Amino acid sequence: MIDYKNPKLILDSSSTKDGKISWKSPSNIALVKYWGKHGVQLPRNPSISLTLDEAYTETHLEYSTQKNKNVDIDLDFYFEGQPNEPFAEKIRKFLLRITDIFPFIKQLKFTIKSHNSFPHSSGIASSASSMSALALCLCSLESNIFGTLKDDTEFRNKASYISRLGSGSACRSIYPHASVWGQTSDAENSSDLFGIAYGKNIHPIFHDFHDDILIVNQGEKSVSSRAGHALMEGNAYATPRYNQARQRLQRLLLAMEEGDLEVFGNITENEALTLHALMMTSNPSYILMKPNSLEMIQRIRAFRQETQQPIYFTLDAGPNIHLLYPHSIYEQVNPFIEEQLIPLCENNKVIRDKVGLGPLQL
Ligand code: PMV
Repeated sequence: MIDYKNPKLILDSSSTKDGKISWKSPSNIALVKYWGKHGVQLPRNPSISLTLDEAYTETHLEYSTQKNKNVDIDLDFYFEGQPNEPFAEKIRKFLLRITDIFPFIKQLKFTIKSHNSFPHSSGIASSASSMSALALCLCSLESNIFGTLKDDTEFRNKASYISRLGSGSACRSIYPHASVWGQTSDAENSSDLFGIAYGKNIHPIFHDFHDDILIVNQGEKSVSSRAGHALMEGNAYATPRYNQARQRLQRLLLAMEEGDLEVFGNITENEALTLHALMMTSNPSYILMKPNSLEMIQRIRAFRQETQQPIYFTLDAGPNIHLLYPHSIYEQVNPFIEEQLIPLCENNKVIRDKVGLGPLQL
């Protein structure tokens, strides 16, 4: 069992220089969903996601020797150029939780400036991009100061582990194209503790797959992911669900390796609807889809039936529709998207995203 606790990562304050580290990290969209957790952010079932490109967070972390000895975590946090105390408090709590992994956190003063490429309340999973960007900054900081984590896999595994502690799904944002998180005999080296790179195992058709995020509703979710995961503990379908996810993952990995879009689409759509069915069958029950989410789903299925084009949908824990299709059919499907789907979006809002290469140090 990997243990990143490391009491040796202590600074010699007389020689510590001030510095700045910046990372840009994308969001990701799960195909087989992680829904239900235990212990410290450990998944009840393995999941796979595509790494996105246009939906990202840029995080700039400035550090200097801490002068204020009265606080545990000395942090100023700016979101979109403005001081943001509610976010600062969340990040302080997170940093405090990981001081046994990075003891030097307590010796530094941090100023973190964060910017999202998409509106915060657009219903896009900002926690995946923001927590992974922060985790990457912290691993770079360790690497710069202590000369550790020089091997790329070692660096990314640790960054993924730290991301997971911030927000489970964030641990899959670290890698190009695709990532698997959760121990399964179907993916070599997979772990419950961090996501692994999976891009090389999938057919190249997925390397530039489109994901148009159709914004049905920009409001804050009525039930948070944290509360949603917790409700799985009392859900009558929980155990069969975790078995189903394992079986689907096995079939999906094979289909993705072969580039079998029909099986890919079938499993992906079923997974999205299963996620929302689990919400509807929780106690208390709740519904995050909106009438236009369902209308879009009907239109996508009718269009696919009529044209035989491989265009599919998935959903995150929210009402927005992620439209998935290969780049080769962009010209054929674009008029349908513009005429039939975008008018159903709130203020015609859509993020035309696609699979990307993963995080970038700036
Ligand atoms: O990472 P969390 O705790 O916000 O959970 C997100 C879970 C889903 O986005 C709904 C599914 C997934 O696997 O990303």
